[in-house]
Amino acid sequence: MIKLKIMQINHDKGRTDDAFMSEIRNMAEEFESKSTPEIIKWAFEKYGDRMVLASSFGAEDVVLIDMMCKINRNLTRVFTLDTGRLNQETYDLIDKIRKKYDIKVDVYFPNSSDVEKMVANKGMNLMYESVENRKLCCNIRKVEPLKRALKQFDCWITGLRREQTVTRNKIMKIEVDILNHNIIKLNPLADWTNDEIWQYIHKNKIPYNELHDRGYPSIGCEPCTRAVKKGEDRRAGRWWWENDSHKECGLHWKEGK
Ligand code: ADX
Ligand code: SF4
Repeated sequence: MIKLKIMQINHDKGRTDDAFMSEIRNMAEEFESKSTPEIIKWAFEKYGDRMVLASSFGAEDVVLIDMMCKINRNLTRVFTLDTGRLNQETYDLIDKIRKKYDIKVDVYFPNSSDVEKMVANKGMNLMYESVENRKLCCNIRKVEPLKRALKQFDCWITGLRREQTVTRNKIMKIEVDILNHNIIKLNPLADWTNDEIWQYIHKNKIPYNELHDRGYPSIGCEPCTRAVKKGEDRRAGRWWWENDSHKECGLHWKEGK
């Protein structure tokens, strides 16, 4: 059992005062030495079903689903953002996971009139035309639905890892998400390596997205993700036509970016 200072704080949702932020920074230091299951157990105790996993059903997310279900399947809440442009293999996996773990997966779609307006004005494949268009598409299809999905929760879990990309190399295992109603954001796999993820998947025989076996280390939307070549960066297949090592879709921006 882990005893942490935050257990003494009641209803911290929305707090960003100095005392609370410094509490979270202290906790983040403590969490560094905690294992992923320890952090998940702590979060179930603290938040119960007011905590949710955001899952794209990539390799990291299926590890988290497996761990959460093993710890407390009844409290496990999972949602996915269906941008309308996902790969068939991702849809297949969502249903496989639902059946294997007997869990509900909430699926959030973009606001249909926003999508209608966007494609009427800019076309179906606007993302290739400019970074501005690509970000508009990500905002409408991912960021706004994420905000909507998180409204009812006090804490969310992600599969972010520090080694994935330069924009993530400073993430902590616990943070306050100032872009989403100041709720708690947990990144309990922050210090895992890619090899550790795959060892866990194989050891526990977890279903995973078939695209991983076809050269896709990171999987997003179909038009914006491709396989990478040997030796290429693991994120090189995401928005591959953009020349920027700081590429993100906006789900995990920090303030000011
Ligand atoms: S992205 O921002 O570049 O698309 P990435 O694919 O690396 O993110 O996934 C990082 C984490 O963001 C996932 O582990 C998951 O927690 C969350 N995430 C990404 N895409 C989705 C999605 N479509 N639905 C729900 N969560 C997602
Ligand atoms: Fe649109 Fe591509 Fe962003 Fe998906 S990843 S929301 S298709 S720009």
